[in-house]
Amino acid sequence: MIKKRVLVISSANIDFVQKMRRVPYSGETVVEDTSGYSYIPGGKGANSAIAFSRLGADCVFVCKLGKDANGRRLISIYEKEGIDTRYILEDPDHPTGLASILVEENGKNRIIVYPGANFAFAPEDTEEAFNCYPDALYMQLEIPAPTIIEATRRANAAGIPVFIDAGPANVDFPLEQLGKVEVFSPNETETRVFTGITPNSEENCLRACIKLASMVDAKYIVLKLGDKGCFLYDGKEYYTFPAEQVEAVDTTAAGDVFTAALTYWYLEKGNILKAADFAGCAAGISVSREGASPSVPTLSEVIAFARNRNEQRNQEQAAAEEGESAE
Ligand code: ATP
Ligand code: RIB
Repeated sequence: MIKKRVLVISSANIDFVQKMRRVPYSGETVVEDTSGYSYIPGGKGANSAIAFSRLGADCVFVCKLGKDANGRRLISIYEKEGIDTRYILEDPDHPTGLASILVEENGKNRIIVYPGANFAFAPEDTEEAFNCYPDALYMQLEIPAPTIIEATRRANAAGIPVFIDAGPANVDFPLEQLGKVEVFSPNETETRVFTGITPNSEENCLRACIKLASMVDAKYIVLKLGDKGCFLYDGKEYYTFPAEQVEAVDTTAAGDVFTAALTYWYLEKGNILKAADFAGCAAGISVSREGASPSVPTLSEVIAFARNRNEQRNQEQAAAEEGESAE
């Protein structure tokens, strides 16, 4: 089977992660000696690139790293993941990006990113990678806006579909310059920042999607709603998908995994509804595990998860129908 080639043009960071019962108040020092700390590969682009590769795509990843030990370590990790790293760029003037991540007991996180080399990723840096003949272009908003706009322009000119995960929130991002997009997927915060609408009800989700559709030329808009699942709008109809029932250990990278899995399954099956269901399963596995890229599932794990869930649903439905007929 020929694998779909996905060109990911995006960010890479080292994640410095600490787990804690609760984050400190302003001015407070909290000593937590229970869970230690870790330095692990992260960055929205790298997390998604790893997801594409583990799910079975031929992933070509372009990011900008510092000329430093963290950058070298990240490249060797990507290579072990089977990612094509030949177009990755090195910046001699800025360090590799770093994210400080605090994860509370309920799995929710707070993240501060020092972008470093990610912000030196220039529009012209995207040119060469298009020689790889990609089937799709995938990006997030963690690199400079002109670079994202230029890459979208190139993809549009070459007739390659563009998938945008709209994180992190950036009120100044010129959405109207983005060009044609297949899927545009913000989370709750990004939706609020771009539209001024909090997506806290079906009505508000629809209002937010209609507003986004007036700002971005997107075929599909998919709102990621954390433990409430996702909301999909195709320009006419909308569809809701509840979140999978899992124990949330660490939600870091749930969005990166979700949008990568959505893109991958859409490219494979050509059906956005199936893709949204698949993405919810992949993200559900990710939130039940610790860390950003370490939490990314493989294709066989997602398929097994979906099969178990479907069996459970069928059993519950059969039991309910039996109960009804006995009444
Ligand atoms: P992050 O920034 O942490 O990577 P995000 O804010 O971009 O994530 P979310 O909306 O939090 O994205 O999550 C993406 C998807 O992950 C959701 O649409 C949902 O399918 C799944 N998800 C998130 N949290 C949970 C949860 N607690 N239980 C089950 N699924 C979840
Ligand atoms: O989406 C999670 C990611 O956001 C982390 O890996 C961190 O590096 C930040 O980019």
